[in-house]
Amino acid sequence: MNPVKQEAHTATEEAIGTTRETLTITDNRTGKSFEVPIKDDTIRAMDLRQIKTNSKDFGMMSYDPAFNNTALCHSKITYIDGDAGILRYRGYPIEELAEKSTYLETAYLILYGELPNSKQLEQWSYHITHHTFIHESIKKFLDGFHYDAHPMGMLISTIAALSTFYPDAKDIYNVDSRRKQTWRLIGKMPTLAAFAYRHTLGMPFAYPDNELSYTGNFLNMLFKTTELKYRPNPTLERALDILFILHADHEQNCSANAMRCVGSSHVDPYSATAAATAALYGPLHGGANEEVLRMLMEIGSVSHVPEFIKRVKAGEGKLMGFGHRIYKNYDPRARIIKHIADQVFEIMGKNPLLEIALECERIALEDDYFITRRLYPNVDFYTGLIYQSMGFPMTMFPVLFAIPRTSGWIAQWEEMLLDAEQKIARPRQVYLGADQRPYIPMDLRK
Ligand code: CMC
Repeated sequence: MNPVKQEAHTATEEAIGTTRETLTITDNRTGKSFEVPIKDDTIRAMDLRQIKTNSKDFGMMSYDPAFNNTALCHSKITYIDGDAGILRYRGYPIEELAEKSTYLETAYLILYGELPNSKQLEQWSYHITHHTFIHESIKKFLDGFHYDAHPMGMLISTIAALSTFYPDAKDIYNVDSRRKQTWRLIGKMPTLAAFAYRHTLGMPFAYPDNELSYTGNFLNMLFKTTELKYRPNPTLERALDILFILHADHEQNCSANAMRCVGSSHVDPYSATAAATAALYGPLHGGANEEVLRMLMEIGSVSHVPEFIKRVKAGEGKLMGFGHRIYKNYDPRARIIKHIADQVFEIMGKNPLLEIALECERIALEDDYFITRRLYPNVDFYTGLIYQSMGFPMTMFPVLFAIPRTSGWIAQWEEMLLDAEQKIARPRQVYLGADQRPYIPMDLRK
């Protein structure tokens, strides 16, 4: 990466008809050229540091608010082609996984890179199922919350609290410890979520039933009342399982980035997962499904949709559940979700807000504002309608996102820990504040 004579390279290349995987940068302040390697269509930001105007100069950095064009890791977990609307976990198309797999099978794939054989799946399911109980003291934390506390607040707090029950989780470079925390986290998330829900209703907690599937048991802990054995509706159980598959990972989104960033300080995985869950809570991320429902209710009727879209275009709010940083095409998850919606509505009755949602989509997909910005429905646009029809209150929607995303977060965290190139996450800044100045005594301040 030493300064090079650019012309010489170009001449040689032309002579022998070859190209090199490098980028030559000319600093017009100094006239110097620098050749930096290109690998996987990227250059290393640190290679810019050699570009200086003089020996005291700190060196060039790249400026990229919100990481619009910065890869922070190499990853083998999830592939997205946002232009083509493609999503794959470990190489398997999301459509095929949604059709043929189960959430636990998919979680195993995401975490360990391969689909489990039947014995592996049996053991994996056994371990998850046998880590669904939570310490009785967690119930005391939940008791401290108001009846109307948002379940995401309760979930974030109780996930963080788990770290105090499992101090062995601090041993993050111990493979057995990591495996155990993985079982515990994936196993206990539905229990924490269901207990938070029951707390808001003032209902006694329903304990896990190990004979049920992952989603079947979750429905049991949410909705069981006086029956001796809760039997989930198989169509709803499968619908929820598919929704969990669709939400299991989504590469370097806000919450995965929070998981990696917080985890890079070598904190235990419960604390990092609590941070990731907090990131997910925001209305621009996993909280969007709740916001979509609020928006549809606010619109109120199909006839009000054109007026609402007009307001969005005038900058008065967003069409929630539309747009994505990566997808500039129809979110492939939204396509699958539309099919699930039909199945759920057949059993539970059509959600009256569906017509409003369909009209929003119809108008938006034909409108220049949305077409030029390439804004399409994302995963959150239709999920809320399904969740509502299944009997979930709106505040539970982001919780239903957090439960399955846990497998993705852990996979991202583990990949980060085992990547020799990763260190504690610590971005740079471009300081534009005041230069050094004398302290002003109180009586002289304006
Ligand atoms: N409604 C109206 N305009 C929008 C929307 C929307 N939903 N999304 C983006 N835009 C406009 C935005 O105002 C901007 O316009 P302009 O160029 O005139 O300034 C342009 O489209 C580009 O948007 P951006 O904000 O630069 O895009 P981003 O990549 O930073 O944001 C996003 C992505 C998902 C945060 C954004 O599209 C959004 O806020 N959508 C609504 C919230 C939502 O549905 N979030 C769920 C995301 S999918 C689930 C998940 O992974 O969490």
